[in-house]
Amino acid sequence: MSDTMPSLRRLSKFYSEIPSSVDTITAALNAAGVDPEKPNARDLYERDLDCQNLGAYAMLERIAAVAAEDGTFGSDEVVLDIGCGIGGPGRFLADRFSGSVVGIDIVPQRTEIAQSLTDLTGMGARISYRVADATDLPFGAGAFAQVWMLDVGIHIRDKRALFGEIARVLQPGGLLVMHDQMGPLPPAMRPVTRRAPFIAPSLPQLLRYVDGAGLRVQTWRDTTVHVLEYFDRMKTALTKAPPQARGDTEGRWWQAVINGYVETLAKLGGRTGILTARRVGDSDRTVVALPGCA
Ligand SMILES: C[S@@+](CC[C@H](N)C(=O)[O-])C[C@H]1O[C@@H](n2cnc3c(N)ncnc32)[C@H](O)[C@@H]1O
Repeated sequence: MSDTMPSLRRLSKFYSEIPSSVDTITAALNAAGVDPEKPNARDLYERDLDCQNLGAYAMLERIAAVAAEDGTFGSDEVVLDIGCGIGGPGRFLADRFSGSVVGIDIVPQRTEIAQSLTDLTGMGARISYRVADATDLPFGAGAFAQVWMLDVGIHIRDKRALFGEIARVLQPGGLLVMHDQMGPLPPAMRPVTRRAPFIAPSLPQLLRYVDGAGLRVQTWRDTTVHVLEYFDRMKTALTKAPPQARGDTEGRWWQAVINGYVETLAKLGGRTGILTARRVGDSDRTVVALPGCA
């Protein structure tokens, strides 16, 4: 593993503090009038219960629409969901398309929760999980038609190894679909950056990593405005929480996180976006110039 043990410990602690246990999710389903023993995948993802990407379910729809511009995948194809978290995006994919999904995450508790939720939704035949580091994938060359990676790359220091592994496990012509925040990250982001590894390249740097791995960029779609809308929704939800929950340590931390993202993205030039790239052969590499990415 290229991530050091201290950064894995920080990452595990960071994600264990995000309230996303199977119990809290089934309680939320119950409160919404859904049978918590037999939910559909969409009962979870449409309520943002299992999507921990920037923008949650609404962003999944956007990302899927952008990916569809590059073609969809068939029933015999497999998608790798890197940094699957508790599995929302993977279940969304399996629900929407006919192929199957393999989710990997470096934090074991995350794949355990993902597996439990997938079992609950009855999708276990088409979705499986492994604990693995994205910079050292336990799969053969060309194993996947698509690789999805939503808001994960930002945690990974060794970008060369990350994109090298993605290119290796993609079939020739296979598609990378990713979403992430671009750097540099200003001090406003400290509420999160002091708790977990956050290493964000600028967009031109990211494009160089992607291209250098043998992936040809197809699309870059800025999503900053939509991520800001998401943080607005979070802010509103937090103001509706009981005063005690808003005032406790966790409530104050969430407030600081939301303010940090909003300041970064609305005032300090921060950007988020969707990137798609296709794996090409070694003889077919070019650096693609995209608007606004000098
Ligand atoms: C913001 S969450 C996104 C989870 C999921 N993609 C989603 O959208 O719901 C980032 C995830 O990346 C995982 N992660 C971070 N570094 C990783 C690595 N080196 N290999 C695999 N997963 C990693 C974290 O454990 C976490 O679950």
